Amino acid sequence: MIIAIDGPSGAGKSTVAKAAAKKLGFNCLDTGAMYRAIAWYALEHGLALDDEAALGEVASTKEISFGHVEGDPAPRRVFIDGVEVTDAIRTAQVDRAVSSASVHPAVREALVDQQRRIGRAGDYVVEGRDIGTVVFPEAPVKVFLTATDEERAMRRVRQNEQRGVGSVDFEEVLADLRRRDEADSSRAASPLVAAEDAVKLDSTGFTADEIIDRIVALADEARSR
Ligand code: DC
Repeated sequence: MIIAIDGPSGAGKSTVAKAAAKKLGFNCLDTGAMYRAIAWYALEHGLALDDEAALGEVASTKEISFGHVEGDPAPRRVFIDGVEVTDAIRTAQVDRAVSSASVHPAVREALVDQQRRIGRAGDYVVEGRDIGTVVFPEAPVKVFLTATDEERAMRRVRQNEQRGVGSVDFEEVLADLRRRDEADSSRAASPLVAAEDAVKLDSTGFTADEIIDRIVALADEARSR
């Protein structure tokens, strides 16, 4: 069974996806990490971010895979073409490049293929922007998670502080997040929109646990249907 969690940057998708997956005994797939891996690869190999053919070739030939750190059930380690990029894909440089890399239909089609292959292998909580609309439109549970811009920026700053990578300047993070929201929502291919049948949850003012419990309840309901 697939549980699709979509929404803008910093809405808390990763936190709740990982925790809900753990409670349900599901796997977890972070599709944003896959777009980040393509952006990282382009920067590392000097490929122009607007070169759709080159980036599409990368997305269709370089395998993106995930690995576990001991004691953590969520697959936190990310590899592209065998190279570990777990931290490298979280830098401010990749934050700035990723919207440009993910705009190309050729990149999206190749990554959607990889995502479907991974997700069909078992029970997954899949988080991203187009999971309920494009990747798994048949998912029995779809959640569209939002929060105010300021709340999302604050969370991203805290996350970057904990990870020790990325910007910890609130204004810079807020501006980048708004720029990415705009780019993600206005692009022609698979823009960020809620699926018609998605349950919309605004996480502002709610604890992560409250949102996680709601998602687990939706999954239980779907399982008993
Ligand atoms: O969730 P995130 O911030 O790590 O995602 C990074 C970028 O990838 C984000 O700017 C939009 C893009 N993305 C996408 O276009 N489609 C997805 N399914 C997931 C992420």
